[in-house]
Amino acid sequence: MDSALPREAGQLLRDARRVVVFTGAGISAESGVPTFRDDLTGLWARFDPQRLATAEAFHADPDLVWGWYEWRRARVSRAEPNAGHRAISIIQNRAPECTVVTQNVDDLHERAGSHKVIHLHGSLFAPRCVAAAHPAAFAPVSGNATPDEGRPVPPPRCASCAALVRPGVVWFGEALPEAALTAAVEAAAECDVLLTVGTSGVVYPAAEIPGIAARVGATVIQVNPEPTPLDRVAAINVRGTAAHVLPALVASAWQETVET
Ligand code: APR
Repeated sequence: MDSALPREAGQLLRDARRVVVFTGAGISAESGVPTFRDDLTGLWARFDPQRLATAEAFHADPDLVWGWYEWRRARVSRAEPNAGHRAISIIQNRAPECTVVTQNVDDLHERAGSHKVIHLHGSLFAPRCVAAAHPAAFAPVSGNATPDEGRPVPPPRCASCAALVRPGVVWFGEALPEAALTAAVEAAAECDVLLTVGTSGVVYPAAEIPGIAARVGATVIQVNPEPTPLDRVAAINVRGTAAHVLPALVASAWQETVET
C-alpha cells in the first residue's frame, strides 16, 4: 500500500501536456456530501440509493424519489468545495491542457474554479420534464426550504406541458449524455496522465475512462483511501483522501500551496 505520495507522481503531472482528472463521489466526501456506496445516514438509511436512482422508482413513487433529490440538492447547496476540488482547479490552470470529467451531480468543481467540467451523470441543478425534456426551474435552497431527511416531496409540473418534472441526472439503466461521453473518451484517449480520484470504478461506462487512457500509454494515477478495481489500471496508487493527497500532489508538481 502506497501511503506516501511517490515523488514521480508530481513529476509526471508537471511534465504532462494533456491531463485528465476523473472524479467520483469521494472527491466531495470531505465537503460533507455522502458517497453512494457509503452507508446513508438518518432516515434515508432505510433506502438503497441504487434503488432510488431509477426511472422505475420515480414512476412508482415520484414523491419519494423527488424528495431524495431535493434533500441531496439542499445538502450540496450548503456544502463548500474542499482542498481536493481547489487542487484540481490549480492543476487545470497549470497544465497546458486539462479536462475535468466527473461522475458527480454536484457543482463543487465549478465552485472551486474548474471550468468546462464534463458531467457524465448529469446535474442536480438541471431538472427537466419527463415528457419532452423541457428544462424546469426550481426554487433556490433557502433556510426554510430544506426538506427533512426521508420526507417525500411532490415533484413540480412542467410549465410548458404539465408533465412531471424529474431530476436532470442519469439513472441506472439510462444512457449517458452522448456529447459528454464522447468528449470524455476523446480526452482520455489523448492524454499523457489521467488522475482518477474518489471513485469506486464499478459503474460503467464511466469506469472505462481510466482504462482508455492506460491503453494509449498514459500514466494513470489513482487517489483513493480504499482499494478499487482501478488499482490494476493505475501505475501509481496513492492511498489517502482527496483533500490530503491532491494538495500534496500540486505542491510536489509546482511548489504551489492549496488553501486548506
Ligand atoms: N477521498 C478520496 N476518495 C474517497 C474519499 C475521500 N475523502 N472518501 C471515500 N472515497 C472513495 C471510496 O473509497 C470509494 O472508492 O470514493 C469512492 C466512492 O465510490 P462510490 O460511492 O461508488 O461513488 P462513485 O464511484 O462516484 O459512483 C459512481 O454510481 O451511484 C452511481 O451515478 C452514481 O456517479 C455515481 C456512480
